[in-house]
Amino acid sequence: VDPSTPPQTLSARSLEALAQYIQDGRAQKIVVMVGAGISTSAGIPDFRSPETGLYANLARLNLPYAEAVFDISYFRNNPEPFYTLAQELYPGKYRPTITHSFINLLHQKGLLLKLFTQNIDCLEREAGVPADKIVEAHGSFAKQSCIECKKSYPEERMQEAIHKKWVPHCLDLSCNGLVKPEIVFFGEQLPAAFFENRNLPSEADLAIVMGTSLSVQPFASLPSFCEDRTPRLLINSEQVGDLGGRRDDVLMLEDCDSGVRKLAEACGWLEELEALWAKT
Ligand code: APR
Repeated sequence: VDPSTPPQTLSARSLEALAQYIQDGRAQKIVVMVGAGISTSAGIPDFRSPETGLYANLARLNLPYAEAVFDISYFRNNPEPFYTLAQELYPGKYRPTITHSFINLLHQKGLLLKLFTQNIDCLEREAGVPADKIVEAHGSFAKQSCIECKKSYPEERMQEAIHKKWVPHCLDLSCNGLVKPEIVFFGEQLPAAFFENRNLPSEADLAIVMGTSLSVQPFASLPSFCEDRTPRLLINSEQVGDLGGRRDDVLMLEDCDSGVRKLAEACGWLEELEALWAKT
């Protein structure tokens, strides 16, 4: 990307320059960082969009404040709101978006160093991204355990609880603690995998940030771990974090699905991307 140009919202030139950078083979280790905004077109609400976001639509749970539904201390005393919501959040009934397929395309081209996701919908895996390429920074519904004794809880019993909206308790009757899917609540530690991989942005030769408000730490710091020489692309409805503050930042302030189509087209990959998504 032309070093003399100041950071700018997307112009045809900077998209073209970024596509040239990729076509020249200078992006071999791409780190992708995503949030709920890449799954909204699949039908899953994000958290903070004013009208449609989850936090704007929890009135029926009469929470003290919206994020309490994912707060571990609130959950310990009031698990019902989460279990009311869990049925809607539980993965399995949504199709990955073309943005998820774009990440898989990067992997198929051998260009994906690592995907960091805040999402718990598992759509990245369903789109074909291998598990060893994904860091689920806020956990996932893949496993569940007792929040007191940490004993794991069987999947089929969890599915029954979610389906029937009852609150599962630890199978060890002497414990009888609350069971919770291993999604990271406010007040809980992120998985070790996050901290083990947190330095990867400094090894990347391109960072792509999509569909996140970058409002929750420590995930929100990831883009700032990129070296100054690393171009950082933001595809998001709004400008977020420190994106746009560096010389080689490129901002596509628009819908993720249209942004990835434009980038794929500029790289000559659009047909391949559409075909890949059609198979998902
Ligand atoms: N295209 C582009 N951008 C979008 C789209 C879309 N289709 N839909 C939403 N966005 C943008 C929103 O404008 C916002 O900037 O995506 C961002 C979504 O932000 P949040 O709703 O805050 O979601 P996220 O960043 O993933 O939240 C982070 O907060 O509640 C916790 O643990 C939860 O992982 C979550 C974390």
